[in-house]
Amino acid sequence: RPVPVVAIDGPTASGKGTVAARLAERLGWHYLDSGALYRLVALAALRRGLATEDAAMLARLARDLDVRFSGDRILLAGEDVTEAIRTEDVSAAASRIAVHGTVREALLARQRAFRRRPGLVAEGRDMGSVVFPDAELKVFLTASVEVRAERRFKQLIDKGMSASIERLREELEARDRRDRERAIAPLQQCPDALRLDTSHIGVEEAVEAIFDWVRTRG
Ligand code: C5P
Repeated sequence: RPVPVVAIDGPTASGKGTVAARLAERLGWHYLDSGALYRLVALAALRRGLATEDAAMLARLARDLDVRFSGDRILLAGEDVTEAIRTEDVSAAASRIAVHGTVREALLARQRAFRRRPGLVAEGRDMGSVVFPDAELKVFLTASVEVRAERRFKQLIDKGMSASIERLREELEARDRRDRERAIAPLQQCPDALRLDTSHIGVEEAVEAIFDWVRTRG
């Protein structure tokens, strides 16, 4: 029997990161934050001054990426970059480099390597459509753009950073548009995915709902 996968896809700040991590904990399964891989490539590219259009170089960077996930820390060539990959600059660059098929291809095997027993909760934009098309459960997590902008705003304020909610909303919409309209592996709800709108429910409730879906399918 293949290793079971729960694929959770959705737009920026839909809550999928937190929900997927908690669900993995609850199930005792492995967890893949695929966006972190795109962010790592973006960070490495920004530091080298590589253009976000340079598909060939970016693909090489993606293939050679020396990354280690150690608990909840992310190491790039031994350096802890857990916070460094979450800045708005890296977010924007990640969604720009993610349009290249060469980069996506280079990250494919790395993502599939996370599929180990007893199971995997994978989160991103194309988990159900491209990386794990045979996932036993596919979830499309959404929330209204207002709620998502507010969540991002709160996260930044809590970290002691300043932010403008209008500006955040614009950046969020620009990133969503790029993710939805790109030619390769665009963000979209798979026909066989269950939709969960988290606009008016909390993290625990969302985790509970998906946990129940896993149990009724398993
Ligand atoms: O999920 P997160 O916001 O960390 O992802 C950063 C960017 O990486 C996204 O805006 C998207 O462009 C890209 N990404 C992707 N495919 C994935 C995960 C992330 O294209 N599976």
